[in-house]
Amino acid sequence: MTTTPSHTGLQLRSLVKASGELEISLLSVETPAPAPDEVVIRIEATPINPSDFALLFGAADLATLSVSGTPASPVVSAGIPEGRMPSMAGRLGQSMPVGNEGAGVVVAAGSSAAAQALLGKTVAVLGGAMYSQYRCVKAAQCLVLPEGTTPAEGASCFVNPLTALGMVETMRREGHKALVHTAAASNLGQMLNKLCLKDGIGLVNIVRKPAQAALLKSMGAQHVCDSSTPTFMQDLTEALAQTGATIAFDATGGGKLAGQILTCMEAALSRSATAAYSRYGSTTHKQVYIYGGLDTGPTEFARNFGFSWGMGGWLLFLFLERIGEEAAQAMRQRVAAELKTTFASHYTQEVSLAEALQPEAIAAYGQRTTGAKYLINPNKAAGA
Ligand SMILES: NC(=O)c1ccc[n+]([C@@H]2O[C@H](COP(=O)([O-])OP(=O)(O)OC[C@H]3O[C@@H](n4cnc5c(N)ncnc54)[C@H](OP(=O)(O)O)[C@@H]3O)[C@@H](O)[C@H]2O)c1
Repeated sequence: MTTTPSHTGLQLRSLVKASGELEISLLSVETPAPAPDEVVIRIEATPINPSDFALLFGAADLATLSVSGTPASPVVSAGIPEGRMPSMAGRLGQSMPVGNEGAGVVVAAGSSAAAQALLGKTVAVLGGAMYSQYRCVKAAQCLVLPEGTTPAEGASCFVNPLTALGMVETMRREGHKALVHTAAASNLGQMLNKLCLKDGIGLVNIVRKPAQAALLKSMGAQHVCDSSTPTFMQDLTEALAQTGATIAFDATGGGKLAGQILTCMEAALSRSATAAYSRYGSTTHKQVYIYGGLDTGPTEFARNFGFSWGMGGWLLFLFLERIGEEAAQAMRQRVAAELKTTFASHYTQEVSLAEALQPEAIAAYGQRTTGAKYLINPNKAAGA
């Protein structure tokens, strides 16, 4: 038996047409009544993370963006350059819901004891389609937020916190003792900085602007290298020598940064080399994981760092599968316990679904710049 039969609400959808046009709109969808092991959540907070932005706007050229429809039901259109259409092939013609994670209140529950126990609780969930007023999910997917936690405080419980923890865990499992992080003043970077300071782990932060270097230093960061300065390569080599970091997580992906990190790691290792010179370079393995695509250009590097290195992709979902449910659950519990400290997220604006589709809002969060993260409240009252 279910407590409430169904809920109808708005859901944001992103559609790439074969004609090369992106269309984002709000649809009214009926949420199914929950099965015995399911609950319906009224979503009250869901962040716009870079990965959501990528699904939302696909390969569209934002310079061509226009908004029609009404203020309450806007329709965003933008053109997709022909050369970028092949990367959209897998989603052509599919009206896709968006939003990896979010939080809200359980308003209906299936008949199982686990589902019933969640009724009225504030929960966070990593389940996709969070840019919706209501979502029906398995009760087991819900993380019950500690008493006194608001949906806004719990909205970013999974993607960034688990990635920060996952980076540190990857570092340990792969036998490294300190790590490097790029775009390090990001929401995730600030969490990683707090986590490493708390756990006594060496962290080299790379940013691209002096203001971000100052921000991280004000948060206690010990090693911050600014890629916009002429001394960047020397500064990075020095920080790597001091920390012994031989693994890096690069959010930019494109450009020269990943290769520069390997170059500087090799330079730092050669400083402390005790073995006889080898033209094959250091025997210590140096690893860069590309885990974001903030720079969409090609990855460029000069192979001047010997032969003991690797460059690869890193994705939270694959990492969680690899470590298994027990280890993943321990990470989730740590996030819940430190949600208002180590893993706190900050947002510049809270907007409704319709407000998130206004040109000024898109221009603001579309910059993906430090401290400009938006939070959507799909149930925000008009004018609130
Ligand atoms: N692989 C995974 O599983 C996974 C999981 C979670 C997050 N991520 C990735 O983690 C990254 C950070 O996410 P977030 O939510 O913390 O981001 P965020 O708070 O929105 O911050 C984005 C940051 O990136 C910087 N940035 C933007 N474009 C850049 C570029 N072209 N080159 C260098 N820096 C640039 C910005 O600095 P400025 O002030 O200089 O613009 C800002 O500090 C994203 O790339 C995201 O996709 C990946």
